[in-house]
Amino acid sequence: MALWGGRFSQSPAEAVFALSQSVQFDWRLAPYDLRSSLAHLSVLESSGLLDKKVAAAIRKALEELVAEVASGKFTYLATDEDVHSALERGLTKKLGEIGGALRAGRSRNDQVATDLRLYAMDAMISIALSIAELQEALIAKATEYSDAPAPGFTHLQHAQPVLFGHEIAKHVHAFARDLDRIQDWLTRTSVSPLGSGALAGSSLPLAPEVTAKVLGFTSSAANSIDAVSDRDFVAEALFILSMVGVHLSRIGEEWCIWSTTEFGWARVSDAYSTGSSIMPQKKNPDMAELARGKSGRLIGNLTGVLAMLKGLPFAYNRDLQEDKEPLFDSIDTVLLVLPAVTGMVATTEFDREKMALAAPLGFSLATEIADYLVRAHIPFSQAHEAAGKCVALCESSGRQLHQLTDDEFAKIHPALKGDVRDVLTVQGALASRTTRGGTAPSALAQQLSEAKSSLEKTRSEFTAAAKAFSTMMGA
Ligand code: ARG
Repeated sequence: MALWGGRFSQSPAEAVFALSQSVQFDWRLAPYDLRSSLAHLSVLESSGLLDKKVAAAIRKALEELVAEVASGKFTYLATDEDVHSALERGLTKKLGEIGGALRAGRSRNDQVATDLRLYAMDAMISIALSIAELQEALIAKATEYSDAPAPGFTHLQHAQPVLFGHEIAKHVHAFARDLDRIQDWLTRTSVSPLGSGALAGSSLPLAPEVTAKVLGFTSSAANSIDAVSDRDFVAEALFILSMVGVHLSRIGEEWCIWSTTEFGWARVSDAYSTGSSIMPQKKNPDMAELARGKSGRLIGNLTGVLAMLKGLPFAYNRDLQEDKEPLFDSIDTVLLVLPAVTGMVATTEFDREKMALAAPLGFSLATEIADYLVRAHIPFSQAHEAAGKCVALCESSGRQLHQLTDDEFAKIHPALKGDVRDVLTVQGALASRTTRGGTAPSALAQQLSEAKSSLEKTRSEFTAAAKAFSTMMGA
C-alpha cells in the first residue's frame, strides 16, 4: 500500500517499486516507529486534533501492533514499500480509515529520521556493553600475565622488555576511548527530529519538545530542515564502529602472529579455532583473522555513507534511504565480532617460558647501557653511541651484552664500569620503568587498578542508559 497515490494516474512500474522498496531492510525500525507513533498520537490528542475516542482506538491498535511485531505475528509483505507503509497497513486493517489519522502533522521524513536515531542509540548502547565485556576479559588476561616478561617491539623488532600484562592491557585503553566516543555521540544524537514534518515544521499545534521527552531525547531539533536531512549521527556512528573494528583488527593481527610456529607464544583454545579440510594438523586462528578482515567492511560502510552525503541538497532526498544498510551492517558486524574476540582473549594461554627467554634477545637491553651512562652524567648522544658500540662488538663476536669484559666496556667508554651488568637483566630493566604508564610491576598494578575502576564506572553508566531506553520502549 503506497502512502502517496492521490495525484498519480498510474501505479509505479515494477522496476520502480523494486528500486524504491526498503521494507526488507528497514523493518527492524518497526518497534521504534511504533513508539514514536504513540508519542505523536499523544500530542495529537492533547492538542485537541484527535478526539479522545479515536485516540483511544488508535492507541489500542498501536499497542497491539507493538506486541504483534515483537512476536512476529505481524510482519511486512512483499507489497509494502517501507516500514512506515507496512505499519500503516496494519493500523488501517485494525481500524479502517481512522488508521490514517496518525499521519497528520508528520511526514516519513521526520519519522524515519526519528526512528533511525532511536534504533542507533539503542544499538550503540548494546555495543558499548559488549565492548565492556571485552575490556573485562583483557584486564583479566593482563592480570594473569602481569608478572610475565616478554620482548616489546617497535617495527616488529625486539625493542625493550615489557611485562606481557602491559602488552595485553594496552588494548583496554583503545576500547575505553571507543566507549568515550559512544557516550559523546549519544549526547549529540539525543535530539528529536519529530515535529519537523516534511521539512518546514508543522502548522498544527504539535509539541515537539513533548514528543522528544516522551521518546527519551534530551531536546527537540532547533531547525526542521537540518533535522530531516542530518545524518551526521549515522556517519559518526560508522566512524566509531570503524575505529572499534580497527582496534579489533589489531588484536586479531597480534593473535595471528603470536600463534605462529615461529613465535609459539599463544595457545588459542580449540573452541575459538578452526581446522583445515586437508591438513589434519592445522589449528587456525580464524576468529582473529575474521576480526581483522571484518574491519574492511566497517571502513567501507563509513566511506559509502560519507560519499552518499557529500553534495546532497537539503532537505530530504531519497538518497538518504541509503543510510540504513551500511549502518545496520556495521552494527551487526561489530555485535558479531565482539563476543567472539572476547571469548578468544579469555581462553588463550600464553607460553611464559618462551616469552621470558625471548625477552632479552635482539639486544633489547641496550637502552639500559645508555640510561646507565646518563645516570653517570654522560650526554645521551654519547651514551647512545657507546651502547651502539657494545651491540656491534657483541654482534661481531657472537655474544650477549652482559658477556662483554670490564676492559671491553671501559675501552668503549671510560664511564662504563663492570657494575653496568647489574642493569643488564630483564628483571632490572622492567623494575626500573616505574613512570606512570610504564612497564614496571608497580606501574602496571596501578594501571590495571585504574582500568578496572573506570570500566566499572562506564559499565554502570551504560547499564543505566540501557535500562532507561528499554523503559521508554515499554519493555
Ligand atoms: N524509506 C524512506 C527512507 O528510508 C522513508 C522516507 C521516505 N520519504 C520520502 N519523502 N519519500 O528514507
